[in-house]
Amino acid sequence: MATATANPPRYETYVSAIQGQPLPLAYIDMDLLDANAQALCQRAGPYPLRLATKSLRCVSLLRYVLKRYPGFRGLMTYSAAEAALLAEAGFNDLLIAYPTMEPRDIKACLPSIQTGKRIIFMVDHPDQLRLLQKHAEAGVTTISVCVDLDLSTHFPLLHFGVFRSPLRQPKDLVPLLDTLRQCHLLQLEGLMGYEGQIAGVPDHLPHSKIYSLFVRFLKKRSAKEAFARRVETVEFLRKAGFPLSFVNGGGTGSVDVTRRDPSVTEITVGSGLYSPTLFDHFRDFKYAPAAGFVLPVVRQARPHIYACSGGGYIASGPIHVDKQPQPFMPGGLTLFKILGAGEVQTSLRAPEELQLGQPIFFRHAKAGELLERFNEVHLLRGGKVEQVVKTYRGEGWCFF
Ligand SMILES: Cc1ncc(COP(=O)(O)O)c(C=O)c1O
Repeated sequence: MATATANPPRYETYVSAIQGQPLPLAYIDMDLLDANAQALCQRAGPYPLRLATKSLRCVSLLRYVLKRYPGFRGLMTYSAAEAALLAEAGFNDLLIAYPTMEPRDIKACLPSIQTGKRIIFMVDHPDQLRLLQKHAEAGVTTISVCVDLDLSTHFPLLHFGVFRSPLRQPKDLVPLLDTLRQCHLLQLEGLMGYEGQIAGVPDHLPHSKIYSLFVRFLKKRSAKEAFARRVETVEFLRKAGFPLSFVNGGGTGSVDVTRRDPSVTEITVGSGLYSPTLFDHFRDFKYAPAAGFVLPVVRQARPHIYACSGGGYIASGPIHVDKQPQPFMPGGLTLFKILGAGEVQTSLRAPEELQLGQPIFFRHAKAGELLERFNEVHLLRGGKVEQVVKTYRGEGWCFF
């Protein structure tokens, strides 16, 4: 199992680190983030890692990871407007992972493309190509594109994966390539196939052993089926006169599986750096819980029942208790099933006595989404606050 090696966080150390800081606050333990970055680079071996911005949502941290870890190269952004802002902020090699039909956002990218920045748009439909071609003509510039291949697997009675792109196999690409041949200012640079059902689905749940076995079985079958399609598609494109400069795959949960696909040239990761609770239960790796938030205890409603301010930071995706934040430290605290994490207050059951004003540390279910709730994030190192930096939200960046 790939493990991030770092000293496990201690409640007393964290309390002393954030002493005197106004609460609530969000934090990243940089010692743990470093351990996670090293573990990810090690797992990826010779493959460059593309950093998923949606899983960090903090310009300073994007800059930090790219500068400090040469294994990370380039960004995968989640919006064209975001890519434009990041390019203006000095970043280069930006792959926009989702298609856009918003003229304003495409236009915003043009000045950076004209000055030579590499910004690549995702496509899976001829209409997206036509819109990009129109903007390329207006901006008198070439625009690079990447094809999104859907890597979900359809088993009998079970769709395993997300419904991403309509392009599932080489022949599905024909209309797109026909249009591309007519769009003289567009250049096909890459292929992306995201095996989210392997990279993002926990497969080692402590209370669901049979279910976990079943998920691992599906993942194995799915990797075989989906990776063969990615390989075939790359070959099909080459034969059709579209040699690629990159093939992107993977996510935090699939690094060592994705690298077995001979067609892949780079792997995307982001969440593994923060390691939120949704990544706690994978059989093949364990990263350190680097990100979290701190709420103050503000009232005691009954013996052993307390409330903290804030906390209802529920993650996106299918609605389930695993999308709630979890009290992390001190140990033994639990949420109430009927209340969950609240909009203004979060109630906790505590086996030991808590003090009013006492900081309680929580972890979010997902990585970048936590920072949508905070303007700044405290970077901790060596048991101290090393720096306080702006989140995307603090920059005034909100894309969806
Ligand atoms: C296209 C794509 N690739 C890779 C990832 C993996 O990112 P992470 O490592 O944060 O799970 C994502 C996340 O949703 C994605 O959308």
